[in-house]
Amino acid sequence: MIHSRIAATGSYLPAKVVSNSDLEKLVDTSDEWIRTRTGIERRHIAADGEGTVDMAEHAARRAIEAAGLKPSDIDFIAFGTTTPDLVFPNCGVLLQQRLGCLGGPAFSLETACAGFLYALSIADKYVRSGEARRALVVGAERLSSITDWTDRTTAILFADGAGAVVLEPSPTAGILSTHLHADGQYKDLLYCSRPGEGSGVNRQPRIVMSGSEVFKVAVTRLGQSVDEALAANGLDRSALDWLVPHQANIRIIQAIARRLELPMEKVILTIQDHGNTSAASVPLALDAAVRDGRIRRGELLLLEAFGGGFTWGSALVRY
Ligand code: ACO
Repeated sequence: MIHSRIAATGSYLPAKVVSNSDLEKLVDTSDEWIRTRTGIERRHIAADGEGTVDMAEHAARRAIEAAGLKPSDIDFIAFGTTTPDLVFPNCGVLLQQRLGCLGGPAFSLETACAGFLYALSIADKYVRSGEARRALVVGAERLSSITDWTDRTTAILFADGAGAVVLEPSPTAGILSTHLHADGQYKDLLYCSRPGEGSGVNRQPRIVMSGSEVFKVAVTRLGQSVDEALAANGLDRSALDWLVPHQANIRIIQAIARRLELPMEKVILTIQDHGNTSAASVPLALDAAVRDGRIRRGELLLLEAFGGGFTWGSALVRY
């Protein structure tokens, strides 16, 4: 039986760093409020002209190189993003062209912060079926382009970046399971407005969020999701080595860690430096912890994410 495993990871953050103090000059907020309510201290924002695929290309090349592969070895691209550079061709195809690995399937999907987990789940099934050999799974976002920089309830949260993993076939299970969910009854609590209905002079599309309502559902659904992942694999929470959560709010992450009875030292936290990068947040956190040596081969990781839709999901991974 063929399984899929994560061969390697990569990520990219734009050079420009915006601190909470910088945001104090834009909206009525404070460093203290942002730190205590969200855990965010700073975030990276893309340069003018730096697009989602530009960032994804850096992350993808780093992952491919770390896997000891060439871009031409990639035969499948699944790309999670809610901030595509173009409506079409999709970001997967644009990335494929940059990498020069033409011919295999390449697509993007818009499942907000759960985008990477949705992409991972699909790629895992293709590798396990033998239809893909080397799958590139990307989460990349330029949320700064859909952030309302006059709205203090969202401007302090969102940021830019990209993360990627390469999946390859393996005789032993790497991706043990993925579980995906969506519940459209919550569509009005977190969405990107239509062109012409957003804020600002040009009424560009903007993120609109009912933060405290989103918070409550996120904690409940993510809690159920991590229980579901462990139960499906017949594993106790004590088996986990690391939680690699979506970096939306430190208080949501702490609630999930408490449920898993995991000390915070076993939780990969990047929110303080990255903010909420939506589909990029889980692969960014994963790559940070792989590269600094915390996550090692053979360890058991639980990845989870929750976002607009609502969409959410988990992946249990033997790294
Ligand atoms: N600075 C100062 N005060 C603020 C700010 C700010 N930036 N933002 C809001 N406030 C005020 C509010 O106006 C309110 O004031 P009031 O009591 O006088 O009315 C007070 O702070 C509390 O506001 P809440 O919205 O209740 O604050 P909360 O503790 O819920 O924190 C937050 C807000 C950080 C947004 C939190 O609700 C959250 O993280 N929600 C979940 C976000 C999330 O997980 N999103 C999903 C993924 S994102 C995606 O899919 C794209």
